[in-house]
Amino acid sequence: MAELYKFEHVGKRFSGPENLEIFKDINLSVEEGESLAIVGTSGSGKSTLLHLMGALDTPSSGKIFFDGRDMSEMRPDEKARFRNRTLGFVFQFHHLLPEFSALENVAMPALIGGACRADVLPDARTMLERVGLAHRVESKVSTDR
Ligand SMILES: Nc1ncnc2c1ncn2[C@@H]1O[C@H](COP(=O)(O)OP(=O)(O)OP(=O)(O)O)[C@@H](O)[C@H]1O
Ligand SMILES: [Mg+2]
Repeated sequence: MAELYKFEHVGKRFSGPENLEIFKDINLSVEEGESLAIVGTSGSGKSTLLHLMGALDTPSSGKIFFDGRDMSEMRPDEKARFRNRTLGFVFQFHHLLPEFSALENVAMPALIGGACRADVLPDARTMLERVGLAHRVESKVSTDR
């Protein structure tokens, strides 16, 4: 199987008065088709690790490769494309856009990626139906029902 992610001696610290070292020397390999759970107590660094994998943050030391590519060498526009086209994120906090409906929020990454509404809205609707939210497609985030 192809190796998707490879971590080599990855460390992360947050500079500042406390200079927090969140983790160090992580060596990890994730293969195509593999399911992986990252488990740990609150504050242990799970989200920090996922932010590195999602090109939302950069390691303080070591290297992360995605599909053989050193992520530190990605230009900002390549990172934006990677996040839009290659990666799917379900965030711990919902980050929904209040001025858009549930349907538009689901379709938003595809719309930002340049797809046209007529192509993506039916798929977004199907996804909401699959999770039992067919009756809420037109709801805005601030709507109670
Ligand atoms: N931008 C930041 N600046 C400074 N410290 C941070 C920053 N982001 C996270 N931290 C700290 O890094 C540590 C790890 O945080 P992280 O959010 O990765 O934990 P977590 O395992 O995802 O926790 P939870 O289970 O509560 O989601 C915590 O001590 C947190 O306060
Ligand atoms: Mg977290």
